[in-house]
Amino acid sequence: MLEFEDNIKLIYSEKGEKWLKDLPILQKNIAAHWNLRDLTPCADLSFNYAASGWQGDLPVILKIGIDLPAMRRECDAINAFKAHGIIKILAYDLEKGAILITRAIPGETLITLFPDRDTEALRVACNLATLLHQTSIPVVHNFPFLDDWLSIIDSDWQVPQQHLVLARKLKQQLLSNTSQHVLLHGDMHYANILSDGDSWIVIDPKGVIGDPLYDMTGALLREPFKQMMQLTDITQILLKRIEFIAQYCKVDTRLIWKWTYLQNVMSICWSLEDGEDVTRKIQFLDILHKCYLA
Ligand SMILES: Nc1ncnc2c1ncn2[C@@H]1O[C@H](COP(=O)(O)OP(=O)(O)OP(=O)(O)O)[C@@H](O)[C@H]1O
Ligand SMILES: [Mg+2]
Repeated sequence: MLEFEDNIKLIYSEKGEKWLKDLPILQKNIAAHWNLRDLTPCADLSFNYAASGWQGDLPVILKIGIDLPAMRRECDAINAFKAHGIIKILAYDLEKGAILITRAIPGETLITLFPDRDTEALRVACNLATLLHQTSIPVVHNFPFLDDWLSIIDSDWQVPQQHLVLARKLKQQLLSNTSQHVLLHGDMHYANILSDGDSWIVIDPKGVIGDPLYDMTGALLREPFKQMMQLTDITQILLKRIEFIAQYCKVDTRLIWKWTYLQNVMSICWSLEDGEDVTRKIQFLDILHKCYLA
């Protein structure tokens, strides 16, 4: 729980401390209302609280977030994807930032395949992303567009200037070349894909509209970040990943590299906005930069 609590305090300061203090009673009230029992916090929480438990005989996950608009978008996205490759919403109370979802069992993340079976894991992720992308964008919706997300890189950040300059150029190029807009998961990576029976299922969508390549690049190529940064052959793994995704999507490797690079710069800006240390993310970006020249 420590990383989760630290993150909440870092991002939300006093409001975060109060939310954390009130969380046990909030969970108790919601559990009483939805008839939940045996709630146990999930391991590896980062920005939202999630607890595993039961509603009658049904295995469930209760997820509660401090960021109410984000929880609403997550709920809308899960509903829009209509259970195609993604878990189901059982109940929600968006004023409390709470959703109740079906629990994946056994619920191991796709990280368990990394690094030895990385290609197999990438294929699982790409197949699931492709399935999600078949969804029709709801006629009435509140999802942001990738253009909105990417506008963050236009501000000034404490990032080596060459990265920002290149990312801004890529942003223009990639957005103007987008020919298909789909409802994206927005945070497609191994930790958000869980084993469910004999197959895999997606959790934790952000819900954003844009080029399908966004879900196949960016976070998917960077994560699992901590494990990735401990490897000695990061460049090799990255090149192999880029090659695989390019073949899967039937596009040029350079296009995959561009989306990955752009998303990583944006992710660094997000981290800086949250007051996080980005040293290792910049190291990764430098490695990624060299991959293009390799
Ligand atoms: N439907 C589910 N079935 C089983 N376990 C789940 C489910 N949803 C969430 N979990 C567990 O809770 C953890 C956190 O869930 P989730 O990814 O939704 O939270 P988050 O804080 O939004 O994540 P992130 O780290 O991406 O910000 C997952 O890694 C997983 O262990
Ligand atoms: Mg997650």
